[in-house]
Amino acid sequence: MAKARTQFVCQNCGTVHSRWVGKCEGCGEWNTVVEEDPMGGIGAGPGRVPKKGRPVALTTLSGETEEAPRIHTGIAELDRATGGGFVRGSAVLIGGDPGIGKSTLLMQSAAALSRMGHRVIYVSGEEAVAQVRLRAQRLGAAETDVLLAAETNVEDILATVGEGRRPDLVIIDSIQTLWSDTAEAAPGTVTQVRTGVQAMIRFAKQTGAAMVLVGHVTKEGQIAGPRVVEHMVDAVLYFEGDRGHHYRILRTVKNRFGPTDEIGVFEMSDIGLREVSNPSELFLGERNAKAPGAAVFAGMEGTRPVLVEVQALVAPTSLGTARRAVVGWDSPRLSMILAVLEAHCGVRLGSHDVYLNVAGGYRISEPAADLAVASALVSSLAGLALPADCVYFGEVSLSGAVRPVAHTAQRLKEAEKLGFSQAVLPAGAADLPKGGGGRWTEIEGLPDLVARIAGSRGALGKSDEDV
Ligand code: TYD
Ligand code: MG
Repeated sequence: MAKARTQFVCQNCGTVHSRWVGKCEGCGEWNTVVEEDPMGGIGAGPGRVPKKGRPVALTTLSGETEEAPRIHTGIAELDRATGGGFVRGSAVLIGGDPGIGKSTLLMQSAAALSRMGHRVIYVSGEEAVAQVRLRAQRLGAAETDVLLAAETNVEDILATVGEGRRPDLVIIDSIQTLWSDTAEAAPGTVTQVRTGVQAMIRFAKQTGAAMVLVGHVTKEGQIAGPRVVEHMVDAVLYFEGDRGHHYRILRTVKNRFGPTDEIGVFEMSDIGLREVSNPSELFLGERNAKAPGAAVFAGMEGTRPVLVEVQALVAPTSLGTARRAVVGWDSPRLSMILAVLEAHCGVRLGSHDVYLNVAGGYRISEPAADLAVASALVSSLAGLALPADCVYFGEVSLSGAVRPVAHTAQRLKEAEKLGFSQAVLPAGAADLPKGGGGRWTEIEGLPDLVARIAGSRGALGKSDEDV
């Protein structure tokens, strides 16, 4: 019989090495490679005992499904992010930094589903029963029929949830605490986490229960992160937010049963998470419209428009090299906008520090924010405030052209709803609504924008040779 070989697995990215190495070739992290037994675990690798295959019954694509395939939680922001509720028989991974509010969100969902008569089992591997109860009391969930267990052993959990009436929803909090007798690796390693998750997914598929798995995102790579199980689950949601701010965003990064560009927005309060159905009001909450360097971006998150303020500060540098700092946006993208401003608009920023911030700790991922960023930068440099009732959106290309983006009508509608009567947008948008009445300024290139904001070149402090 062949000698059982061990393998060396990176705890950060899951790359398998044939020998121990100090630096993982997959992700470049140091000291993340741990020796593990590949044969251990439920369903791991080719089994030790060769077994003859058993034919499974083939079926057709059409057929009766007797119950609603989705379980609506009634928490609109959560249902929006999952694409209409949890899917029966599926596994959802909810990742996020420790302390961001994953357990809170799931306890609230569990309570909501339990109130609707669903059988919900909450398995806590991190907190004792008393602690979970305390949180439930605070969230007003203590009087519901949510079934609670504090357990970390995979086999015990499976035996528990498999007993009695089939649960509609099982919550495992968290996957990092799971450990199985069958996997020969220390708890918290990739092998243990994978084994546990695999067993939970199998339970979901076999019984039709919806499975929600919580995973902490760890930057150090000490404990196997949710990334190593992302490919195994049906949907991956990340719960994000800034510790300094109260609101939290549930972002879909993978969904086999729905769209992936939706977000759910919540606000953390002292009685748990509160839904925020109009995020724009939240992000524009503390706006000082008179200050230079602030531009309101009319963005889109999935099917929902979101208005958010982009703030720029441009100041002469006191150091040899100018500083560039970005919060809430892409740093290379800022460099690109600065280069385009310099090359095509004659705006010299080489000897200026540039700071860019997206208000409220929000993170923008759309290229459509280019125009708002450029406006904020020019406004700050010129020392001239932008009109308070104007929104900006459009993608900037390297040639300095401003290109149309999708959902023009929806962005403008949201802006109007929130009292913005003007907009600066790319020329030639296909779905520009008729009857703008001159309130919408269509621009073709970045130089037009600079001319509009700064007006005379004096405002940008340019000398005649610069132009
Ligand atoms: P928690 O759900 O335990 O985070 P996670 O499971 O992601 O680690 O949330 C922890 C934080 O949320 C904690 O810092 C306190 C805060 N919190 C509130 O502000 N209000 C509340 O009602 C609850 C339950 C928690
Ligand atoms: Mg928790």
